[in-house]
Amino acid sequence: MAKAVWWKQGPIYQIYPRSFFDAGGDGVGDLEGVRRKLDYIAGLGATGIWLSPVYPSPMVDFGYDISNYRDIDPLFGSLEDFKRLLGDAERRGIRIIMDMVLNHSSDRHPWFVESRTGRDSPKRDWYIWRGGRKGGRGYPNNWMGAFGGRAWKHDGETGEYYLHLFTEAQPDLNWRSNAMKKAMFEELRFWLDLGVKGFRLDVINYLVKDAQFRNNPYRLRLTFPRRHDLQTHIMDRNQEETFGIVRELRALMDQYDETMLVGEVYPDEGVHDPALAGRFLGGGDDGLHLAFDFSPIYTPFKADRMESCLKSWYEKIPPGGWPCHVLSNHDQSRAATRLGGGDDRINRLLALLLLTQRGTPFLYYGEEIGMVDGRLKRRELRDPVGVKYYPFHPGRDRSRTPMQWDDSPNAGFSAAAPPAGPWLPVNPDYRERNVAGAERDPSSILHWYRDLIQLRKTHEALHSGEIEFLPHHPREVLMYERRGGDERLLGVLNFSRRPQTVSLPLSAETLISTGRAKGSPWGKELTLAPLEAGLFRLLPEGF
Ligand code: NOJ
Repeated sequence: MAKAVWWKQGPIYQIYPRSFFDAGGDGVGDLEGVRRKLDYIAGLGATGIWLSPVYPSPMVDFGYDISNYRDIDPLFGSLEDFKRLLGDAERRGIRIIMDMVLNHSSDRHPWFVESRTGRDSPKRDWYIWRGGRKGGRGYPNNWMGAFGGRAWKHDGETGEYYLHLFTEAQPDLNWRSNAMKKAMFEELRFWLDLGVKGFRLDVINYLVKDAQFRNNPYRLRLTFPRRHDLQTHIMDRNQEETFGIVRELRALMDQYDETMLVGEVYPDEGVHDPALAGRFLGGGDDGLHLAFDFSPIYTPFKADRMESCLKSWYEKIPPGGWPCHVLSNHDQSRAATRLGGGDDRINRLLALLLLTQRGTPFLYYGEEIGMVDGRLKRRELRDPVGVKYYPFHPGRDRSRTPMQWDDSPNAGFSAAAPPAGPWLPVNPDYRERNVAGAERDPSSILHWYRDLIQLRKTHEALHSGEIEFLPHHPREVLMYERRGGDERLLGVLNFSRRPQTVSLPLSAETLISTGRAKGSPWGKELTLAPLEAGLFRLLPEGF
């Protein structure tokens, strides 16, 4: 059987280290905590881990504000801890990719500190400095920060503004500076030489800005009116030059074995733009290996909508390119809440969808036990977005609550005693929803995930095969064929709360299903239970 390279095989398991496992007992998860849970991750069947940022940082944006690209923040441990984690992961066949924030650094990074010292600083052009309009007092243009307010901060010392597309503690780096680019590439090399197998590239489509700093046009939106979202971001994102930098990044990666780059590509808020994500894959072998298309995250729980969303993503994958899929991450409401409303039947259906599509699945920690969003009180909020926009926008803490390991205090996440406790409150449902309980129950959602991942691993049709959506059937049912080796498999998912009957192209037998036993045979018609999701093997004609 053809074997897929690790990053095509997947799943890749995203860890938000602050919230995974706290071995140090200070209420914040750490690298040693991740290391101690490697057997759990290996048991799940993940081939890689994406670690959200662990570099030294003032933590204004919880690590997405890096003040040193070559070290580990003491909160998470040391470089030695990191190396130990890397080695132990490798022994289990798990690769580690780091989160890499190239668009901006922290304002405490020595590069920025130096850049700020004067207009003639040798690192002045490593960041984006502009004089004001209207005699120096007006903002250089109309760009807005994603986390509120203008994207420009006036600097009293030198009388110019610097650009920050996120908080003002995250100044944007200038990717038109070759010296900065060269220095940043050395930072990447540092981690590659240590043995990391790649990077998740934060907001990769933001890197280069319009050379003339022209205004963004405005657009009308009826949702929560963040001024940032009332602009079409054609000047501060997606510039042609960014694709050139991506090619250079790819060339760097190609000097190392089996490495992978996955880019976070953000279209305008609420817009589906698989074509944009697809462009970051270049010609298939000179762009990113993978790019996130977040369209499924904005798609409602409807079979026909999901089908057209997935189809349009596949259409945008260049020949030789490879898709990937994501339903949850540290910035979004968890799919179990957003789509599932806490109903495990929906969680199981989503798991089957994610793990039987063509392309690499990404799992967000806790997704495999059906963790739902936390409900936080105002004083419990930590995320700058939640704090700024309370009560109009929930912020992102809700999807970052501690991993629920067992039913002991703090869900087994941390031994930190009150009043300190975990950095974010544990979701009170941990008493019923936790890893230890799910391990003991063979019918739990955790076992469902494991079984599906195992199937994905052992069936070429799933990890490497083609996909075709079948015309059919009631609108509430999603049906697709996966073909590979000499096998034909069929995913059949009933998105409705009513039984639905579909016609199959051939007779089939059940590989796995929420509604029937493994091995059960089917004629050319199949009646699905409400919300049933199953994977079937099509039997050759005559069976
Ligand atoms: C996208 C990251 O996913 C998010 O968590 C972060 O706040 C911003 N980029 C800024 O780095």
